[in-house]
Amino acid sequence: MKSVAIVPTLAVAAFAAPAKDIEKRATPHVYLAGDSTMALGGGGTSTQGWGVYLPYSLKDVTVVNDAVAGRSARSYTDEGRFTTLVNTVASGDWVIIEFGHNDGGSLSPTDNGRSDCVGSGSETCTTAAGVVVQTYVTYLTNAAKALLAKGAKVIISSPTPDNTCESGTCSYTPSRFTAYCKDVVENAGNGASFVDHGQYVANEFNALGATVVNSYYPKDHTHTSPIGANVVAAAFMKGLMCNNDPLATYSKNTTASIAGSCI
Ligand SMILES: *[C@@H]1O[C@H](CO)[C@@H](O)[C@H](O)[C@H]1NC(C)=O
Repeated sequence: MKSVAIVPTLAVAAFAAPAKDIEKRATPHVYLAGDSTMALGGGGTSTQGWGVYLPYSLKDVTVVNDAVAGRSARSYTDEGRFTTLVNTVASGDWVIIEFGHNDGGSLSPTDNGRSDCVGSGSETCTTAAGVVVQTYVTYLTNAAKALLAKGAKVIISSPTPDNTCESGTCSYTPSRFTAYCKDVVENAGNGASFVDHGQYVANEFNALGATVVNSYYPKDHTHTSPIGANVVAAAFMKGLMCNNDPLATYSKNTTASIAGSCI
């Protein structure tokens, strides 16, 4: 009797395993969620987002750049863009999330629809118009958890710095969003990872020096030229590979072949 009871269980398990595999895509998708520093078209004329160059460094995946200029963790959420991603991802896909450039600022006297409530936890703020606003950490934790529940893996990436060499001397101090990113990864748990993109970019900019780095900023101190965006994409890959992130297995390049040192 005992063995009879076990047989159906094994049979169910044997059918369950392939059924789960079928839900995966033959070629995993890597979705990018972020702002103009990542988006196609960057911050306008003569600039480009780094997400445009990421596909050149990855093999056997399809990169889908869903970054949109001007967005923050809050507005990307409020516009339903994370919900769309959650409804789109398949098990085995990846989502790289990088926000921060539009998340600062104050909710008063005028709310721009993008600023988050300041804090690293579940704090809320209420605007003059009565809109309840969550923290960066809450918006991204909610998104990450929903994506993980669909079987996707989530990479939370710290924002790119503004031109670190603007003064003629290169220096970088991470913004509060870098610490928030680590909080999000901790909250989201298994399947979420962190890439300190901001620090990797800053380190590479230090190595290149002010003359080269300033030439990457044709318009303002936030948006890079296409050549600059390619350097910013390479810095992301370096961080990914130095961390031995699971997505690094799809890299076309070795860790050593990408400029910079691991931190
Ligand atoms: C990786 O190699 C490809 C060529 O196979 C190249 O286009 C890409 O820029 C490289 N990426 C990095 C980060 O060096």
